[in-house]
Amino acid sequence: MREQLHNLKNEALALIQEAKDKKELETLRIAFLGRKGKVNQLLKRLVQLEEEEKVQFGQLINEVKRAIQQTIKSKSSTIHAKGRAGTHHPSSIKDFFDPTLPGAKPSQGHLHLVTQAIEEIHRIFEKIGFVRVRYPEVDWDWYVFESLNMPKGHPARDEWETIFINQKPHPKMGKVVLTTHTSNGQVREMERVGQPPIKMINIAKCYHRQQDITHTIMFHQFEGLLIDKEISIPHLKGVFDHFAQEFYGPERKTRLRPFNFCFTEPSFEVDINCPLCLGKGCRTCKGGWHELGGAGMVHPNVLKAGGINPKEYTGFAFGWGVERTYMMKSSLKIEDLRLFYSNDLRFLKQF
Ligand code: PHE
Repeated sequence: MREQLHNLKNEALALIQEAKDKKELETLRIAFLGRKGKVNQLLKRLVQLEEEEKVQFGQLINEVKRAIQQTIKSKSSTIHAKGRAGTHHPSSIKDFFDPTLPGAKPSQGHLHLVTQAIEEIHRIFEKIGFVRVRYPEVDWDWYVFESLNMPKGHPARDEWETIFINQKPHPKMGKVVLTTHTSNGQVREMERVGQPPIKMINIAKCYHRQQDITHTIMFHQFEGLLIDKEISIPHLKGVFDHFAQEFYGPERKTRLRPFNFCFTEPSFEVDINCPLCLGKGCRTCKGGWHELGGAGMVHPNVLKAGGINPKEYTGFAFGWGVERTYMMKSSLKIEDLRLFYSNDLRFLKQF
């Protein structure tokens, strides 16, 4: 039996060393170590032996078993490694490596198009003296609504419109909300600067409870605020035309339409002329103009809330959506605003 065991071991190891692939190896494993394999057959014969021999042979069989197992394992990893190398360098001609070839360039990413838009908007306003600031995107009701002259029952303060944070209201500042607009920066900027002139451009994230092809729950706005002595509507119009020409091109201009905001008086909606007909009216724009966003002369109550004397100073403010403003560049036709935030590289790589 000792000799039998010895032969079995030699036979197994030799066959395993010669195995060419995983399949062959597996067949050998079953033949030697399987339930009905050669090693088990020898184990079954142990019962016929004397007690002392049983222990001796039992140990020997286990040693043989372990040796076979180990050889299979190391052979299996050499087959695996060879297989992998083989797919990359199957033959000598393909092994040829030309060190003079230029290397493969690592692909380079770029800033998200909203970030690009924000940088461009910032540069345009910076040139005419506006200072970029950023105010909280989670803020007190006081800065988002109350200090902006918005009455308690205003629809924007409704739970259907605004996302409130589940936190105990502050005795003076009220509830905590995800900012619905960047206008929360107005009174904060008046508090920061104190004495006008104030020339701020606040670019930040805003939130509302709406999502469809023209709205995303999270979006960006840029808010301009200019307060000084004798500021009037022509100043506001001049700044908008400057922006329109810098951002959209020399032939573009803006127009003002009367509107209503609680924090400005008078208030306007600002339109930009259509890139195709330049305002005459065509099939794509209907009336010749596209809406950009809101604006107006800062309401005296808002100046007062920011500690500024409305008899001495006046100012204007405007708040427009970054994504919307960007989408209106003449060369771009983005049909669904949600694409901005879908993380789809096929879309993002184009900008
Ligand atoms: N906050 C307004 C909005 O989100 C826009 C606006 C800003 C209007 C400043 C007037 C003045 O629609």
